[in-house]
Amino acid sequence: MKKTIVVLLLFGFAICAFKEIRGIYFRYPSYWPKPIYNFNKNQLTTEKTFLGRVLFYDPILSKDSNISCASCHSQHTAFSQINHSYSKGINHQIGKRNAPALINLAWNSSFMWDGAVNNLEMQALAPMSNPTEMNETIGHVADKMKHTTIYPKLFYKAFGDSAINGERVLKCITQFMLSLVSCHSKYDSVMEKQAKFTQQEERGYLLFKKNCSSCHKEPLFTNDKFENDGLPINKTLNDVGRMLITHDSANYLQFRVPTLRNIQISYPYMHDGRFSNLVQVLNHYTKGIVRSNSLAKPLLKPILLTNNDKKNLIAFLSTLSDTTFITEKQYSFPVFVN
Ligand code: HEC
Ligand code: HEC
Repeated sequence: MKKTIVVLLLFGFAICAFKEIRGIYFRYPSYWPKPIYNFNKNQLTTEKTFLGRVLFYDPILSKDSNISCASCHSQHTAFSQINHSYSKGINHQIGKRNAPALINLAWNSSFMWDGAVNNLEMQALAPMSNPTEMNETIGHVADKMKHTTIYPKLFYKAFGDSAINGERVLKCITQFMLSLVSCHSKYDSVMEKQAKFTQQEERGYLLFKKNCSSCHKEPLFTNDKFENDGLPINKTLNDVGRMLITHDSANYLQFRVPTLRNIQISYPYMHDGRFSNLVQVLNHYTKGIVRSNSLAKPLLKPILLTNNDKKNLIAFLSTLSDTTFITEKQYSFPVFVN
């Protein structure tokens, strides 16, 4: 597996990869807020972003060289993992949470369902060192890379010398993650007055603004906060969310509000992937809310939706799908670059 990938990568580079990357830049619609990430500490360049992309797809990052970041975050599902409720890592070990979609991360102030990480560079380190995910150390990964023919060259292109170390690896993976901007949905075209919602989508949009947008705030569809949205605790996992980090009972069952961009393609849903479709999600909001002291205020009042309302709401949510994002070559496995 490892050998094949290296050969494929070499083949890809030789043909066209470097040219293709010239197009990478960080762009977002003018009506969006400014990103939170401080680009001064890690300025994006095409070479570093490209190196990050190669790393993202390379199982060299895991102990048995079988698992890459893309094993759990695959592009065609907006960089989430759809075939497992809980993510599956090294030696087929199953994790405890659903792998979230990786979208518009430059606007997040914290990461993971419970906000365990507040720095994107450190985020890449977490799965690498997690014994059930990639079970590797960054130092050992850097050593493995030194013994390849390709990586010294790539680091030379990106940094002006071929030194390979953990910090550089993390910076480049971060650059690739920052480049994952999803802003070409129908919703965006409508906001930019280049398209119109259908009547059904428009009705769904009104329902969304009434019931959902206080947490799933436009235009990123998250308020970047932790909330308890009334899900009953998963008794097998006993995952109390944000409280695991803060040890404060006010944070009991609070999870990071996920973006709803590309939501139709990034099932299953919730931190434990308990719902497989959007109807189940809406049924939760209308009749599944469990009250506890930490339940978010907007959910204290019941959400009432008829079956027709649900259809309209789902029609609106499907306008958040971005086919450019999930097919964009700049994000894909480097061998398919031309
Ligand atoms: C074995 C599956 C697996 C692998 C491999 C994996 N991840 Fe993840 N990733 C997850 C899971 C599960 C979560 C959520 C964990 C949590 O909330 O506790 C996650 C969360 C994240 C997040 C946070 C997203 C957010 O919105 O909060 C980022 C960023 C991320 N991963 C990037 C990476 C990168 C980069 C790699 C490779 C170095 C990687 N992942 C490898 C499963 C995986
Ligand atoms: C009080 C804040 C709040 C409100 C209001 C709210 N949500 Fe959520 N939503 C959340 C949180 C928090 C999660 C993650 C919960 C978890 O995983 O445990 C979530 C998860 C979701 C998910 C799953 C996302 C994923 O990637 O797995 C969908 C879909 C969703 N909400 C849709 C809606 C819709 C539609 C509405 C309106 C009917 C709504 N939400 C109202 C806070 C809220």
